[in-house]
Amino acid sequence: MKKQVPLGEMTPEQFLRDYWQKKPLLIRNAIPDFEPLLSADELAGLACEQDVESRLIRFDAQGDTWTLDKGPFDESHFANLPQRCWTLLVQAVDHWLPEATELVDKFNFIPNWRVDDLMISYAVDGGGVGPHYDNYDVFLLQAEGTRRWEIGGICDEHSPRREDAPVMILPQWEAEQSFELNPGDMLYLPPQVAHNGVAIGDGCVTYSIGFRAPAHNEILRSFSDFIGEQLGREQRYADADLTLQDNPGQISAAALSRVADILASYLGNREQLASWFGQYMTEPKYPELVEEGEQLEESDIAEALAEGCSIRRAEGSRFAYIDRDADSVLLFADGQQHEAEGEAAALARHICRERGLDAAQVPTQSSTALSLLKTLLQNGCCYLTEG
Ligand code: SIN
Ligand code: CO
Repeated sequence: MKKQVPLGEMTPEQFLRDYWQKKPLLIRNAIPDFEPLLSADELAGLACEQDVESRLIRFDAQGDTWTLDKGPFDESHFANLPQRCWTLLVQAVDHWLPEATELVDKFNFIPNWRVDDLMISYAVDGGGVGPHYDNYDVFLLQAEGTRRWEIGGICDEHSPRREDAPVMILPQWEAEQSFELNPGDMLYLPPQVAHNGVAIGDGCVTYSIGFRAPAHNEILRSFSDFIGEQLGREQRYADADLTLQDNPGQISAAALSRVADILASYLGNREQLASWFGQYMTEPKYPELVEEGEQLEESDIAEALAEGCSIRRAEGSRFAYIDRDADSVLLFADGQQHEAEGEAAALARHICRERGLDAAQVPTQSSTALSLLKTLLQNGCCYLTEG
């Protein structure tokens, strides 16, 4: 059966070829009869929780000023807001709401490791975060009410921005295109496209499914730290082939080549690269919130599955795998690497694709598969659930 993707008539192949990271796309009725995942009150409730990241952005048209408040909020905060031009934004709702992960999974024509989170915003009439650009790809799904999206050109770190605002505001905003989105409509924006979303009327709720992409500077720093941590003080630059230089003050081309060779030897090590990248890209968004899981023996796990329980990836956990060969994979879960072979490898691939496993999908006679599940449960990356 063909998977339902929220791209209207377009296939994922067409989307990837013509739009992904290339140009904006408006999809009317991307999710027909879309049902919101939670009410505005529930969203405000989340923004009052200690562990939830949230922001409230206000614009005062008279004074032409922007204000940013960061959560967690006290309930009374919401009672004292003006009538117009504010928005509440709650980050990583998919970490807190299992149903929200199902929505994010609709976008799995993009690899899981590129997902950042599902952010939900609630705005009153005129509310929005102002004209800005993001460095991420985003699908902006209108969940309730109406929002006008205005799109401008491509921006970068050199683009002028207002210095007096606590959030990025592009000054002298001029829209090149604009669209009104109603529930179920969706706008895809590639990175760096300037945009401005303004609520038309109260009760405007927008879901942003955001995709992250590591910056080159992060890639280089993180990989070199990873390699550096494994090296002792004795692996050093060596020049047994040194020849007499005319000027001892010169760093010769040969010396530079030796350094380039050292770097290339580490960069060319695919196994190290795979280990680092898998661990790096599955580090949790909020590492401080990761909790230890259940200490269960393999037999307890097999028994629970036989009784009808299933195993589910924890909502805030990040999973990915890299194939080593047909029969073995490196599984990464929340920044930890696990080597898995045979039936454990099949299980690892399955849980990366499907989010959940039931008795039929776990080879309970395989001690390596059960031992992998034991570790994942113990680390809090998975949990057992009834049904
Ligand atoms: C929103 O206001 O819901 C989306 C914010 C954005 O443009 O990134
Ligand atoms: Co944006």
